[in-house]
Amino acid sequence: MQTLLPLFTTSLVSSSAILVAIGWRLILKNKREQHKRVMLTAAGLALAFFILYSLRTVVIGNVKFGGPDYLLVPYLIFLWTHIILSTTSAVFGIVTLVLAFRERFERHRKIGRITSVMWLITAFTGLAVYILLYVLFPGDVGTIFDAILH
Ligand code: HEM
Repeated sequence: MQTLLPLFTTSLVSSSAILVAIGWRLILKNKREQHKRVMLTAAGLALAFFILYSLRTVVIGNVKFGGPDYLLVPYLIFLWTHIILSTTSAVFGIVTLVLAFRERFERHRKIGRITSVMWLITAFTGLAVYILLYVLFPGDVGTIFDAILH
């Protein structure tokens, strides 16, 4: 459970990012209905990730970086970059969806491009955090504050 759940949640994010890339390609080919369905599925996977991640934070806790001391500061800078990027992408994602449902497609197109790029980078950095934390340098379980501040 300790390592399976993070693997599962990380794969939710990776799948969501793959769907965003597919959804982008679809709209470039003017396939509007398919774009809508694929992007809504991507948003659903991101939401599922968020719910599971929040539950895990409350019920189990978060893992601290267990690597060597000299890597701690670079790791924390990387982690914070990922946290800020993912939070910003979530806000942009909501705005992108609202604009789509209000049929303000001019703005949706502009913001949607930024959202998509940010989400792709978030998923990639998330995968990197997973590998650093669960594959290369696993540490003890603590609160979320232990995990992000040390
Ligand atoms: C978070 C989810 C979504 C993201 C990230 C997203 C992203 C994008 C992007 C990047 C574009 C512009 C493509 C380009 O020109 O490079 C676009 C266009 C478009 N999207 Fe979405 N989209 C999402 C959800 C939706 C939904 C739910 C709908 C339908 C209700 C929708 C309808 C459209 C339409 C109609 C266009 C074309 C706009 C135009 O031709 O000016 N999108 N979207």
